Amino acid sequence: MPFTGNRSFKDAPRMIVGADGCHYTSADGRRIFDGLSGLWCCGMGHNRREIAIAVADQIASLDYSPAFQFGHPKAFELANRIKGMTPGDLDYVFFSNSGSEATETALKMARAYWFKRGKPGKSKFVGRGKGYHGVNFGGTSVGGIEPNRTPYGELMDIAHLAHTLLPENAFTRGLPEHGAELADELEGLVEACGADAIAAVIVEPLSGSAGVILPPKGYLERLRAICTKHDILLIFDEVITGFGRTGNCFGADTFGVVPDILCLAKTLTNGTVPMGATVARAEIYETFMAEAGPDYAIEFPHGYTYSGHPVACAAALAALEIFETEQLTRRAAALAPHLEDCVHALKGLPYITDIRNFGLTAAIQLEPYPGEPARRPIEVALECWEKGLYVRYAGDALALAPHFIAETHDIDFACNVLNDVIGTLK
Ligand SMILES: Cc1ncc(COP(=O)(O)O)c(C=O)c1O
Repeated sequence: MPFTGNRSFKDAPRMIVGADGCHYTSADGRRIFDGLSGLWCCGMGHNRREIAIAVADQIASLDYSPAFQFGHPKAFELANRIKGMTPGDLDYVFFSNSGSEATETALKMARAYWFKRGKPGKSKFVGRGKGYHGVNFGGTSVGGIEPNRTPYGELMDIAHLAHTLLPENAFTRGLPEHGAELADELEGLVEACGADAIAAVIVEPLSGSAGVILPPKGYLERLRAICTKHDILLIFDEVITGFGRTGNCFGADTFGVVPDILCLAKTLTNGTVPMGATVARAEIYETFMAEAGPDYAIEFPHGYTYSGHPVACAAALAALEIFETEQLTRRAAALAPHLEDCVHALKGLPYITDIRNFGLTAAIQLEPYPGEPARRPIEVALECWEKGLYVRYAGDALALAPHFIAETHDIDFACNVLNDVIGTLK
């Protein structure tokens, strides 16, 4: 089982047999509030009928079409729809099947871009501590969560910027004040390696998987300025923040910083069908087209059997229709202050060392057991499950990411359960 303690799960399986709206049904018939929108992916709510119908119709009319050298209309319709939503000239979309593939595609695209620009030496990537970019070899290499890296031996040679989780920002509501200068580490790396060696910097504007680690005010702007100054591509991994989580369509909109490449997945299909997307600025696309030789030549030798799968496209088009007609970014933004108030009201409970929130996401950092990292939040999460709340743990933090369609009483419920469970920790 993925990212699971297989032995403890098999000792006491937690099986989910149904879902509806913001809730799951467990195998023992209990209604469980889904405190993380699945794995950050189902913000529009579970079992949306419009998506189910679109998927069923698609399977009945064009179940699959070859992804290489042929196309189908929905892939272009979806690409254009995404283009209409993304900021700046992030206009060209490459489809894949997951967040891991979206980031892997971005890394290969960045290297191939510099190759085509006649600068093959610009091949090094810069990631960030505590970053998560999926589980393929490139994503694992640029990722900065150590337990996800150490079992795999030698990875790509990556430089990592320091993470932005600073003790002086503990219990800040919203974006932290301190730490913008951490972006300047990139200047140091440029000095050490030379800008001619660096292809791209990849960061999540807001890291979800490591426990909602927020960009200090001004940090992303500084990173953007340094990348622009030294001709380094900036990749935003918005697999979690893409489509609504920060209260705007993308973190890029919320933070006012446009990357050169944007990685998307998860909420793109509301989690119903696997799909990833890598969106590039027009200049990147045009470079590939201009530098490819004869017309029949393949400009970007990369892709997946299921790139732009018709069923995934149908699901995504239906999901984005819901997302826009129900104005779910507004809904997420309107719910965010309530989430902020409720999670910060937990301050003072045993073992809570920090509470962070932004948009419709929050994390509660717990003091680890001495010498046993990541044990306490698992225990808390399992107790919450017994009390009707599904909450995810990330390292020593508990993460919340309610559905955009949640009500304030759902958030009250989640925080009341957390209050009960953490409040009685010994
Ligand atoms: C920022 C980020 N990038 C990439 C991924 C990987 O996505 P997937 O699990 O769909 O491969 C995740 C998954 O949580 C993520 O949060």
